Amino acid sequence: MNPVSELIKNLADQYGRSRENLLPILQGVVEQEKYLSEYSMVEIARELDLPASEVFGTATFYSFLEHKKMGKYIIRVCKTITCSMKGKNQILLAIEDMLKITVGETTPDGTFSLLQTNCLGWCHKAPAMLVNNDVYTELTPEKVREILSLYINQKQKGE
Ligand code: FES
Repeated sequence: MNPVSELIKNLADQYGRSRENLLPILQGVVEQEKYLSEYSMVEIARELDLPASEVFGTATFYSFLEHKKMGKYIIRVCKTITCSMKGKNQILLAIEDMLKITVGETTPDGTFSLLQTNCLGWCHKAPAMLVNNDVYTELTPEKVREILSLYINQKQKGE
């Protein structure tokens, strides 16, 4: 069996095959593969018995549709209205300044990729971002620098 097909089957076994499990399965594939290929989306659709267009739409909405390999840690800063009003731009600037990359880029050592995404459902604690599957809320530039330092330390320890 193709390793990606096997991964998707295992994720579907783990999370279940109903529609609401689509997001964790997409996240699981991105976590392992660092991107989501068209092949993966078709396989997920087959495994969950969903139209491929629905998988594609969900992946696009959450900006999981990366066609190139991404960094070990993928930062997704929410760009939707509440987070925008609560200082999303300062958060992005702090990240860009610290990592020396802009949105859509990956650090040369392959540690971080920086993306924006749509509402993560944490508007009441905006601004919010994801680092891989972990949600961080009520962000300030300072808090973001602390969070990223933790990931940098983890990477240095080889975790
Ligand atoms: Fe950012 Fe909802 S608007 S989490």
